[in-house]
Amino acid sequence: MNLISISDLSKDDILRLLESAETFRVRRGGHGQPLLGKSLAMIFEKPSTRTRVSLEVAAAELGAHPLYLSASELQLGRGETVADTARVLSRYVHGITARVYSHNTVVQLAQHASVPVVNALSDWEHPLQILADLQTMRQRFCKLEGLRLAWVGDGNNVCNSLILASAILGMEITVASPPGYQPKAQIIEQAKRLGGLPSMVEEPADAARGADVLVTDTWVSMGDEAEEAERLRVFGKYQVNAALMGRAADGAIALHCLPAHRGQEITDEVMDGPQSAVFDEAENRMHTSKAVMAWLMGEKRSGD
Ligand code: CP
Ligand code: NVA
Repeated sequence: MNLISISDLSKDDILRLLESAETFRVRRGGHGQPLLGKSLAMIFEKPSTRTRVSLEVAAAELGAHPLYLSASELQLGRGETVADTARVLSRYVHGITARVYSHNTVVQLAQHASVPVVNALSDWEHPLQILADLQTMRQRFCKLEGLRLAWVGDGNNVCNSLILASAILGMEITVASPPGYQPKAQIIEQAKRLGGLPSMVEEPADAARGADVLVTDTWVSMGDEAEEAERLRVFGKYQVNAALMGRAADGAIALHCLPAHRGQEITDEVMDGPQSAVFDEAENRMHTSKAVMAWLMGEKRSGD
């Protein structure tokens, strides 16, 4: 079992992982070490604060030894194949996480590894992030099914995983993006096959109206830096600010996977305001990562 796409998980898998994450949160410091004696290889082709630290701390607190492996310092950076890297790491460690530019790299790792592989962000999806977002929504609303989500901004990797999760869990989602930056048809089709019906709009206000959760992300993802000037011009109005929050439902929350570009896709007022759940969301990266690792790398895995 790997976690490459959030759609690798069923509704039951997700709900079970969220229960487990909540238990790890409540029992932090006293939940035992189910992964004692195991090791986790964490490959990073791109920078990271939350993913690296939450995975590393989660692994350590579960008793496992985490190894941070910068891709440029691995032989991968000198031309060793992804397949051979996967085969060799599988002889040493009990799980691999990978943050990569091309989604195909993490797919290839999973094809050639004999231990579980987890996508720690690719250009196509960010499943670990979405598990943390779901835990945050459940903490705030005590339910997921029926929640109304609004995505404001780039139809990127995080948006793709959120669209698929919405379809799996029975949440409504409306995506407001500028023309040319909407989620790809492939994701919309996949969401429809999973039973979802994502809506696409151009105006942020049309997505925000009546929403329970407003979600945004950077206008310039890692790998898109060459397009920065154009993106800053195109995305100007795709900002989660107090006026947009005012269009949402009473009790609505704002989420952002972070890092935030304050004053661009989200304002200080929202980030630091009473409707912000972004720092709980960041914390939940650690609890959900523990749940994923304990499930994939633990002794007893349902579905084996
Ligand atoms: N949200 C997230 O993945 O953050 P990092 O890039 O800091 O890991
Ligand atoms: N969409 C962003 C997410 C960062 C956590 C990126 O890919 O850079």
